[in-house]
Amino acid sequence: MDTRTYKIFRYDSSKNEKPKFRSFEIPVEKGMTVLEGLIYIQDNIDGSLAFRSSCRAGVCGSCAMHINGKYRLACETQIYSLKSKTVTIRPMAHLKVIKDLFVDLEPFWEKYKLIKPFLQPGEPPPERERIQTADDRLRLEGLIDCILCGACQASCTVCETHPEYLGPAILLKVNRFVEDSRDNAADERLEEVSGFNGVFRCHTIFNCQEVCPKELDPTGSIANLKRKIIKKKFGPAKLYK
Ligand code: FES
Repeated sequence: MDTRTYKIFRYDSSKNEKPKFRSFEIPVEKGMTVLEGLIYIQDNIDGSLAFRSSCRAGVCGSCAMHINGKYRLACETQIYSLKSKTVTIRPMAHLKVIKDLFVDLEPFWEKYKLIKPFLQPGEPPPERERIQTADDRLRLEGLIDCILCGACQASCTVCETHPEYLGPAILLKVNRFVEDSRDNAADERLEEVSGFNGVFRCHTIFNCQEVCPKELDPTGSIANLKRKIIKKKFGPAKLYK
């Protein structure tokens, strides 16, 4: 039977011990995901191993972690797609580790709440529904598929040096509402992200775009917000001879 060595970051914030890596040898077969390997360890070798997962189908975003040098969804990563026979797993960066691969996501959700992540139509609801044209819906393509796994935030170096920076996942979500024809709060949204911890903190490093498991483009969203803020403050671009 084929095997892999899982090398996993271990830490328990309730104990006064230093973090360490622990290795586990597990049997693997074609079609097995990294998450299934973790579940095997939890079920058969060490029940105290802590990690998050829920849907096991790349939908809920709970299983994002650092796997062999890149932030990925454990449930979408095939063990056989990794080049190395050692699967090295670390928790998400820039967040407090509670236990092993289980981090405290509260600061992430606090930022998310700040941007009011819901439609603000600014008018009473219509009798049936808010209609969008096909073109209006098309503008949301690539913006509404974010599953808030946080992989982009973890890979962002600005999130490390400026913990208050809203970050790529949050700013992509702002862009999603700014571009939505049913939302009427674009001015306030742009004002909020034009501040000290908003879009102009982004250094356009593209890490977020590279790791997004849904192949979204947070860097592009941030650039779009920057363009709109500049246009709002200084008017349309002029061509100088
Ligand atoms: S368990 Fe839901 S995205 Fe992986």
